Amino acid sequence: MRICVIGAGYVGLVTATCFAEMGNRVVCVDLDGERVARLACGELPIYEPGLEPMLKAQLASGQLGFTEQLRLGIHRADVIFIAVGTPTSEDGSADLSHVLAVADELGERLDHACLVVDKSTVPVGTAERVAQRINGGLARRGQSARVSVASNPEFLKEGSAVDDFMRPDRVIVGCDDERGRELLRQLYAPFLRNHDRLLCMGVRAAEFSKYAANAFLATKISFINEMAGICARLGVDIEEVRRGIGSDKRIGTHFIYAGCGYGGSCFPKDVKALIRTAEHEGIEPGILRAVEARNALQKTLLFQALREHFNGHLQGRVVALWGLAFKPGTDDLREAPSLVLLDALLAAGARVQACDPVATPTLARRYAEHLAGGQLLLSDSPYAVSEGADALVLVTEWKQFRQPDFRRVRAAMRMPVLFDGRNIYDSGQLAELGFLYRGIGRPAVGGCQASAA
Ligand SMILES: NC(=O)c1ccc[n+]([C@@H]2O[C@H](COP(=O)([O-])OP(=O)(O)OC[C@H]3O[C@@H](n4cnc5c(N)ncnc54)[C@H](O)[C@@H]3O)[C@@H](O)[C@H]2O)c1
Repeated sequence: MRICVIGAGYVGLVTATCFAEMGNRVVCVDLDGERVARLACGELPIYEPGLEPMLKAQLASGQLGFTEQLRLGIHRADVIFIAVGTPTSEDGSADLSHVLAVADELGERLDHACLVVDKSTVPVGTAERVAQRINGGLARRGQSARVSVASNPEFLKEGSAVDDFMRPDRVIVGCDDERGRELLRQLYAPFLRNHDRLLCMGVRAAEFSKYAANAFLATKISFINEMAGICARLGVDIEEVRRGIGSDKRIGTHFIYAGCGYGGSCFPKDVKALIRTAEHEGIEPGILRAVEARNALQKTLLFQALREHFNGHLQGRVVALWGLAFKPGTDDLREAPSLVLLDALLAAGARVQACDPVATPTLARRYAEHLAGGQLLLSDSPYAVSEGADALVLVTEWKQFRQPDFRRVRAAMRMPVLFDGRNIYDSGQLAELGFLYRGIGRPAVGGCQASAA
């Protein structure tokens, strides 16, 4: 099939590359000229495990190409995917300006009938609006061709996006016409050979399913975080509780890890957009508001714990941060809990030494002044940033941080104090090594044996 993917971000790039890998001819369009130029040379503008070799192979085979010009991308395309960003507007709703701009341009440039598919996360009714804009444009230009617009929300996870796309749990297709459904069934068939999990439904149900899925996952996280807060007061370890409840199949083991809050480009904005939709429909979204409020609070907990530990005096303290990306496996810093902590520490006069396997270049661009002023130091070595630290904070649970040489870390630090923002460490073992350990919703363990205070 001839495919055009509009938007070369996390979703568009993975979609385009994986469709090319399955033998389709794919052109990916992005209005960011620099991004297109880098991609055409096989250079990835984002970090996503496994994507680069596939992209290079598909470029070399000629199955995949990149362009800034929509006209070239849509030429003779059977299916056009819209995968541009839908960030948060000022009022909390999804900003559809990029999606609608694409629809208008398609109305101006398309000259043949084809299937247009919304892959971006968009509110119910967007496919109808996109269809009206495109078909309105075609009609104004005297074109007889018409398009139908389907919804195919994306469920890939940054950090395992290629794997998720190649072996999806399910593919949701919202399409009101049989031909469009058949086209998408054919396109996805190679990805669903082991188990046919293509779920067909109405366009509006597909659009809503994406929001419901993200809101549910965010709710699970905020729920366990609230439980962790109660556990902390009761002297109960949330990790024992997590194991206790996760073994119940109705609850399950996923997304019940207490931590310093969720971030990323999806959960925060999608929960916000769903709140706005509910308000618009006259529904009070009490659960969603609580999910959001708990998450905002959760992102401040590590700073509160540090401030308490240092009796409110963080000025001049050296704090080491392990992990900056909003989750392991990505360089994405959008809405990352690390940013809330970092801003609070810098404002309180602390000196921050931060480490992340891939996100430091992105962070460096945002904090150029603090770097130049010496208040922030970035490194890719967890040991280098522990040097002379008064406290160490694990923010993102990258594999690299799971089993470090804690004797070496302890020797490097000025004070062996560890705040575990993801509850990944064995508190007893760390206490034995001389650390004061504090997790989220876990009793503090160990004594502060300062090597030099
Ligand atoms: N990132 C994720 O993990 C994820 C997962 C599932 C769904 N989604 C959804 O997918 C959509 C895209 O997300 P993303 O993270 O890939 O976004 P992104 O910000 O990484 O990329 C969007 C790309 O679209 C390009 N763009 C914007 N307007 C354009 C236009 N008119 N023509 C051509 N290109 C244009 C931008 O230059 C950018 O490169 C969003 O709706 C998001 O909610 C994201």
